[in-house]
Amino acid sequence: MEDISPSAGVDDAFYQSADNFFPAQQGVALTYDDVTLATQYSEILPRDAALETSLAERLNLQIPIISADMDTVTESRMAIAMALNGGLGLIHYNMPERQQLSEVTRVKYHVHGLIQEPIKVTPDQLIGDVLALIDERHFSFSTFPVVDDQERLLGLLPGHVVRPRYAARKVNEAMMSRGSVQTVAERDIQPDPIGCADKFFTEHIGIHKLLVVDDQDRLRGLFTLSDIERITQEKAAPLKPARDAQFRLLCGAAISATRNSTGDLDQVRILRHVGALVERGVDVVAISTAHGFSKGVGETVRLIRGAFPNLPIIAGNVTTGSAVDYLAGCGANAIKVGQGPGSICTTRMVAGVGIPQLTALYVCGKAAQKNRVRIIADGGIAKSGDIVKALTLSHAVICGGLLAGCPEAPGQIMEINGKLYKQYRGMGSPAAMKAGSAARYGHTRDTTRKVAAEGIEALKEASASLDTVMTQLVGGIQSGMGYLGASNLDGLRDRARFARITPAGQRESAPHDIVEVKTGASEG
Ligand code: XMP
Repeated sequence: MEDISPSAGVDDAFYQSADNFFPAQQGVALTYDDVTLATQYSEILPRDAALETSLAERLNLQIPIISADMDTVTESRMAIAMALNGGLGLIHYNMPERQQLSEVTRVKYHVHGLIQEPIKVTPDQLIGDVLALIDERHFSFSTFPVVDDQERLLGLLPGHVVRPRYAARKVNEAMMSRGSVQTVAERDIQPDPIGCADKFFTEHIGIHKLLVVDDQDRLRGLFTLSDIERITQEKAAPLKPARDAQFRLLCGAAISATRNSTGDLDQVRILRHVGALVERGVDVVAISTAHGFSKGVGETVRLIRGAFPNLPIIAGNVTTGSAVDYLAGCGANAIKVGQGPGSICTTRMVAGVGIPQLTALYVCGKAAQKNRVRIIADGGIAKSGDIVKALTLSHAVICGGLLAGCPEAPGQIMEINGKLYKQYRGMGSPAAMKAGSAARYGHTRDTTRKVAAEGIEALKEASASLDTVMTQLVGGIQSGMGYLGASNLDGLRDRARFARITPAGQRESAPHDIVEVKTGASEG
């Protein structure tokens, strides 16, 4: 339709494709509010616009939104909620390594169909040991299969006996015997394990656990009724969770380019840390620093790529094409773009460096195409329209401030003058650096050394649940895609036409000349 329109030439002159628009602005760096997108002929209803994105061969998301690896944004609760909404959470690293591993475990053990490596106990263990295990690994369940040293099934320890009152008793005194445990043979559940478990639970009133065994009665897996019910409900939900090949939720973890006492990269520690994360099932690691175009970050990526050839790696942050060439050459799959756009960042004020996001994304995107890597827009996203603009030049966005007020973000709600808030702080703020993130900004944790903070400590108004926030954001992205006639994110990148706007245009773009009585999206 557009091709035959006699006015298409005028449109093309005023509303330009990225490859015409950005080169014409050389020397000027633009961000989200500096541009607007032209609408296009459309046959796409917003709700039909598909949001799947692929960041690496083994890293596919249902929606292109990632929660930031910040200590006031992403721990297991946020990562679980993000993955259930189809996105991804990156667990921050401002915590002891052991705790980060537990956080990843909690995500990977959260609701999946067949739990292929159930946590088990042995008959001689004390109930007290089991309670300690639950506490240490932060498990949210307390029923465990009991196996011998050959993994043969001996019974099931039900949750209602795992109590401090019985701490001194042995597991074999409290467990259900093998004969009373419901099992199914591994060979009988193919090709549809979930359907098979669903049928079993319908037919066996009151049974909540089904164990899977092999021909030698060795434990091979576990189904729970609540998992199966959530999965069946999931099929009808508009947003599909982001899951791995074993049906577990996706989870990412940030790692730092740790140095040893002589200032060299601590290769042994980094590899041990990543190895432990991989063992727990992590789907991607993110090497997050303020300056990704640096030897330490490149060497860390190369080190991890060498040891874990198939592990998706995100690295950053950068704002130049040469930096993308460098990190891609080191083995990164996806590169974070963003230096100084974050809502709590002061890098541009403190160090005088950084590039407004849209120009940075365009420049980095050109290099990413050449290198066949993805780029992720990190920081500065304040509303769903910014995400639409970011996705015209990238494959996903990272949000911090937009999600920090959700109940799923770490931290307590506080009340100030009758309003509810949550803490949100930059990873380069003095408090966060003291808690461990100094390496991200090229500093040591040594408090005697004077360091320039590149982030602030702030508050965000407490917001609705992540599900509600995601529904709004996803609705906004799909709306943008509907206006551009884009059925998927490739289409959005193809069909985006940009125009620069002035401060008057920016004023016109937000509610104006009214007395606002109710906030929220409006038409037209
Ligand atoms: P938003 O705008 O979503 O930004 O709140 C989140 C992103 O900001 C980055 N980040 C920082 N940048 N100083 C900085 O210059 C900081 O202290 C800081 N903490 C986080 C990070 O990329 C995050 O994803």
